[in-house]
Amino acid sequence: MTTPPPMVSGRDIGKFFRSADGRVVPALDGVSLTVHEGEFACVVGPSGCGKSTLLRILGGLIEPSAGSVARHPGQPPVPATAFVFQDFAVLPWLTVRANAAFGLRMAGVRRRDAERAADAWLRRMELAEFADGYPEQLSGGMRQRLALARAFTTGSPVLLMDEPLGSLDPQTRRLMQEQLLALWQEERKTVVLVTHSLDEALLLGDRVLVMSARPGRITEELTVPFPRPRDPGIQDGPEFGRLRARLWDRLRGELSVGAR
Ligand SMILES: Nc1ncnc2c1ncn2[C@@H]1O[C@H](COP(=O)(O)OP(=O)(O)OP(=O)(O)O)[C@@H](O)[C@H]1O
Ligand SMILES: [Mg+2]
Repeated sequence: MTTPPPMVSGRDIGKFFRSADGRVVPALDGVSLTVHEGEFACVVGPSGCGKSTLLRILGGLIEPSAGSVARHPGQPPVPATAFVFQDFAVLPWLTVRANAAFGLRMAGVRRRDAERAADAWLRRMELAEFADGYPEQLSGGMRQRLALARAFTTGSPVLLMDEPLGSLDPQTRRLMQEQLLALWQEERKTVVLVTHSLDEALLLGDRVLVMSARPGRITEELTVPFPRPRDPGIQDGPEFGRLRARLWDRLRGELSVGAR
């Protein structure tokens, strides 16, 4: 089997921020990674280790202080990269349909075409009946589905997702993980997903990258051995438990470094 072409890659990425009192805060240090076409990569790491920063750099929202990023060129007017942010950032003054269409509208797609694409995704996300309503009328889980609908509506081949299911209750989250698994298996986007959930990373990812405490570096890379298409039932098997324990072992060391 030939390896698919790289879609997003970063080489020796470093990032410094300046804090309010003028101190230099190193957020990332020497991060290198390559995500190939159709690959689902998950990033886990302690809070504050630079995961969101890394995702923003990969998506071109902010510049790295060191190193370089290469992205597969997009086909205008479709943006090459779509984001789902940590706080899922739906726009309260826009209808659900306009929120779903937002990425395409920003890329200059005509309203009618953007809304047609949005409606199709709202149907898939079981939000069609709320299309004319506003985000405040949606539950947290529905809002999160809306954020996903917006990202998928753009048609971007690359999705960068920052804890897209982070604010859900455990049961809804598990359902959404299974939904995302099914969706990805149909769509085969190139995905980088940041998550605090090791189970989520192992269920969804082809690869799990473990980051160190700040300044974040990638300290371990685990190839997830479960074949595709995956059944959510793998979560209850012994192999899943073994991999979770291994990841947790790695992460635990970093969490205690972060707490010092
Ligand atoms: N715009 C900014 N200005 C100054 N410091 C920043 C800025 N953005 C991030 N930082 C700092 O960089 C570090 C990494 O932040 P980042 O948000 O990337 O972490 P994270 O791994 O996503 O954390 P979490 O898991 O809590 O979401 C933190 O110390 C944070 O305070
Ligand atoms: Mg973050």
